[in-house]
Amino acid sequence: MAEATIETLTEDAARQELAELAQRLAEANEDYHGADYPRIDDATYDRLKRRNQAIEARFPHLKRSDSPTDAVGAPASDAFSKVAHQQRMMSLGNAFDAADVADFDSSVRKYLGMSAADPLDYTAEPKIDGLSLSLRYEDGQLVQAATRGDGRTGENVTANARTIADIPQTLTGVGAVLEVRGEVYMHQDDFAALNVRQAEVGGKPFANPRNAAAGSLRQLDATITARRPLRFFAYGWGTLSEPLADTQFDALERLGALGFSINPLTRRCPSPDALLALYAEIAQQRATLGYDIDGVVYKVDDLALQGRLGFRSTTPRWAIAHKFPAELAWTRLEAIDIQVGRTGALSPVARLTPVTVGGVVVSNATLHNEDYIAGHGAKGAEIRDGKDIRVGDWVQVYRAGDVIPKIADVDLSQRPEDAVSFVFPTTCPICGSDAPREAGDAVRRCNGGLICPAQAVEKLKHFVSRAAFDIDGLGAKQVEQFAEDGWIAEPADIFTLEARYGSGLQQLKNREGWGEKSAQNLFSGIRAKRQIPLDRLIFSLGIRHVGEAGAALLARHFGTWEALTAAVDAASPENEAWADLLSIDGVGSVMAGSLVTALGQAAERASIDRLVAHLQIQPVARPSGEGSPIAGKTIVFTGNLEQMTRAEAKARAEAMGAKVSGSVSAKTDIVVAGPGAGSKASKAESLGIEIMDEAAWMALIGAA
Ligand code: IVH
Repeated sequence: MAEATIETLTEDAARQELAELAQRLAEANEDYHGADYPRIDDATYDRLKRRNQAIEARFPHLKRSDSPTDAVGAPASDAFSKVAHQQRMMSLGNAFDAADVADFDSSVRKYLGMSAADPLDYTAEPKIDGLSLSLRYEDGQLVQAATRGDGRTGENVTANARTIADIPQTLTGVGAVLEVRGEVYMHQDDFAALNVRQAEVGGKPFANPRNAAAGSLRQLDATITARRPLRFFAYGWGTLSEPLADTQFDALERLGALGFSINPLTRRCPSPDALLALYAEIAQQRATLGYDIDGVVYKVDDLALQGRLGFRSTTPRWAIAHKFPAELAWTRLEAIDIQVGRTGALSPVARLTPVTVGGVVVSNATLHNEDYIAGHGAKGAEIRDGKDIRVGDWVQVYRAGDVIPKIADVDLSQRPEDAVSFVFPTTCPICGSDAPREAGDAVRRCNGGLICPAQAVEKLKHFVSRAAFDIDGLGAKQVEQFAEDGWIAEPADIFTLEARYGSGLQQLKNREGWGEKSAQNLFSGIRAKRQIPLDRLIFSLGIRHVGEAGAALLARHFGTWEALTAAVDAASPENEAWADLLSIDGVGSVMAGSLVTALGQAAERASIDRLVAHLQIQPVARPSGEGSPIAGKTIVFTGNLEQMTRAEAKARAEAMGAKVSGSVSAKTDIVVAGPGAGSKASKAESLGIEIMDEAAWMALIGAA
């Protein structure tokens, strides 16, 4: 499109161009929302939008009812209604070699208190490289289909799922509620044919069958999905009103009998050796299957044992994905950039000549830290035979699954003569503050704290991220924009945005990428998050070493923000408050120390207090423990347990609403003492705390 200067545009030309822009931008949005490859790149999209706005500014009466100005800023997920998963959709831990598989088997046995000789079956299934989908049947009728989303909330794609032939619309002989989970995928030849059709209509090709499946399922218009050759393998389930079977294998057979496609390579295996043999067999067939798989999933077969093993924060203890080896490719390292993270870490990033690695174009890779670039591993040992990495080098890139691509090797024979060793900066490239290395840490950190704009922006991005405040309409991109313009500098500023810029929305409306509707949506998105669960708040602060799991432990232990801050403020190494922090199972001195330091820093604390003033913090929803005899009690396990392992006892107690502590104090309610209990039992006795043996404990929780 030749672009005339806006000042000289005639009204007719302006009308015509606004119509064209509306169409082009709408198409681009559709591509984007459909997770397809966009037909235009981000920069072009932004330029067209700016031009559209500028024309509208000159001819306000020509602004169209479908003006792109009002339609932007909507994240893809807003296109579909949201579905809260009754049971969270989890991901899987990974194994990369036989040793990892052996570790998995022994950790399962350890958790269950089984010896290496006890029989333990697994079911092994190919890991299909598609996207997961949860199908809800009520009284045998398909009523809802939802994508995984963040695991808790997915997108409602019911109309689209109904167009997939592998998905039955009705089931006979099932209970009131049955949620079937599985993978939507596309055959490689269907993918190739689809790309030919895409090219014919001037669309960009999909990168791989997985992207094509995702783009096809997430179409706003289900008639488009219907024309795409999608398939579905069932591999699991969510909420059930009646059990399907007693074992994973039989449950899959039952789903097969109900009309679902079950992967034909699924096998029951009696040992890790049998798993590895099947893995080798499936790896051999991989190239001729006709669809992409990226590993083999091993699941404990007995569903009662799966139930006992339960879940970690995002992955089951009873399953693991044994991934196929990473894909490799060689390319040129064009530059090394330094990024500054939210905790100030200086992370070197390799900028690469784009290269396809396993179906995905890679142009960046992580370089970890300065030692890694220099050719030293964590403990000073050589990596890559001690070869350093230089700008200009010919490097081997690999990626395994969704992990960030890494550099595996350097070909010294291809090194340009003028290549020089990389000199890692000792000051922050953004704010200029010193970036020292602490003893024992391979990472340099900018010590600019809140004055470093890079740290501030990264903290803000973390603050709005999915597992944190997850504010509708406020993603990383918008945060960057607002921070750059000085509208927000810290999380508290988000909650005053409306007061500062909301009146008449004029200022926001005039900004790039915002219209009345998206501005209103943003403000209501922010308002909605003034109420926030305690664990999310703790995680959102981006305190080093306090991740999602740590935040959940702290929230569960302290219950309220006031209790948490009072305890942290009182804690200093070796005093009682410190011991109380460390008594939380899963909280060690590193996390506790980081928490105490962060909340103790005056400027940082003031910033947090400003934020908290805008919030209503919801005490964390403990497992209801309703009617449970141990709800709200603090329990200490000591000595040897025989019926269940310590880990299982802890998980059970927590699921029934109790707190489990590692040390006995006046706050302890019950000490469960097995044989060999020592000082903890005697301390409990001297404090007059109830002590019971394992049999009494099992009876108490109804497990005897
Ligand atoms: S089981 C709680 N089985 O892999 C267990 N997942 O990395 C949940 N996937 O989100 C997953 N094939 O989309 C399972 N046979 C299989 C699978 C499979 C593919 C996907 C699934 C999941 C992801 C986890």
